[in-house]
Amino acid sequence: MRIAVYGASGFTGSLVVTEARRRGIEPVLVGRDVRRLRRAAEEAGVPNAEVRAAGLDEAREMAAVFAECDAVVNCAGPFTRWGEPVVRAAIAAGRHYVDTAGEQQHIHRILGEFDSAAQESAISVVPGVTDDGVPGDLVAHLAAARVSIVRDVLIADLRLPGGVSRGTARSMLAVVGSTGLEYAAGGWHADSGEEFDPITPPGQTRPASLRAFALPGVVTIPRHVAAGRVRGAIRTEVATLFTGLTEEVAETIPEVVPMQARQAGQWLMFAGVTGGHGERIHGWVTGPDGYGLTAVIAVETARRLVEVGAPAGALTPAQAVDPADFLEFLTSAGAQWQVGED
Ligand SMILES: NC(=O)c1ccc[n+]([C@@H]2O[C@H](COP(=O)([O-])OP(=O)(O)OC[C@H]3O[C@@H](n4cnc5c(N)ncnc54)[C@H](OP(=O)(O)O)[C@@H]3O)[C@@H](O)[C@H]2O)c1
Repeated sequence: MRIAVYGASGFTGSLVVTEARRRGIEPVLVGRDVRRLRRAAEEAGVPNAEVRAAGLDEAREMAAVFAECDAVVNCAGPFTRWGEPVVRAAIAAGRHYVDTAGEQQHIHRILGEFDSAAQESAISVVPGVTDDGVPGDLVAHLAAARVSIVRDVLIADLRLPGGVSRGTARSMLAVVGSTGLEYAAGGWHADSGEEFDPITPPGQTRPASLRAFALPGVVTIPRHVAAGRVRGAIRTEVATLFTGLTEEVAETIPEVVPMQARQAGQWLMFAGVTGGHGERIHGWVTGPDGYGLTAVIAVETARRLVEVGAPAGALTPAQAVDPADFLEFLTSAGAQWQVGED
């Protein structure tokens, strides 16, 4: 199997190249700058890997490279700025597509606008294949399946402040400053900003205060869970840090998060489901090294699209893979997960 990694010269892209190699999958490094791609191939331990230049305005070149691969993993963010040409090229080439976007707006747009084109090309397009997007969507699906009527779902990213890459900081600029969307009354609207009750994360004793945030789950979960309302939140202390993020600050952040900082930080996705009779089910997924896990998730999702198959169209993670089976797979990368009653 061969995957094209678009944006392979970046921090996440090079982790995806390394993970593909570890899994015995041949990575083809694609992007706008051959020298940076070649250096990334050497650093990832695949100096002889194929490297192909194709800028975002070179649709034909991009599609031609993609057509020689089985799937595309797009790691070139911010995706609200650069994502669309890569999606279009994958559709033109008829190759499955995943990306590592954390930007709610991009994920919502791809799911809303590219479903028919992906179906016509008989491929699956799965945006938001990351350490928050995938575990959150999958565990919310499993928690919601425990009740007959889903009144509301809270999807919360409960990680503590930790190291982020410059690429993440640049992409977060598109997200911070707005509370994002909520799903209510059968459609998406600007989040009401209503306060949340604090949550005590599993294994912790202190409740975490929450603030509404534009998480991917708000635009993915209602596509497979018939919920009355879905909102997204992060810890207030993390939201407060984001408010200080400016373009100037983002450019001072190092490109790479060192391994020690990656290992020290735990990511934690929480899904709280309230049923029609007031019953409460929670699901959570946690683990170390969110960036490493994003690479594991992106490569495994691409592999499953190719080797296991999924419906054609623009899909959320829970529509593309078997939720429980995929979460079980993630335990091999250090994740733990649970669904249960409150
Ligand atoms: N949990 C999450 O939500 C999560 C987790 C991991 C990653 N991500 C997302 O993944 C993305 C990548 O993050 P990162 O830290 O890897 O960023 P990065 O190191 O800055 O890498 C960005 C990549 O995109 C390419 N690129 C940027 N602008 C381009 C353009 N105009 N044309 C062609 N290529 C372009 C860069 O190519 P050059 O080398 O040529 O500049 C580079 O390969 C971000 O959006 C980040 O938020 C999200």
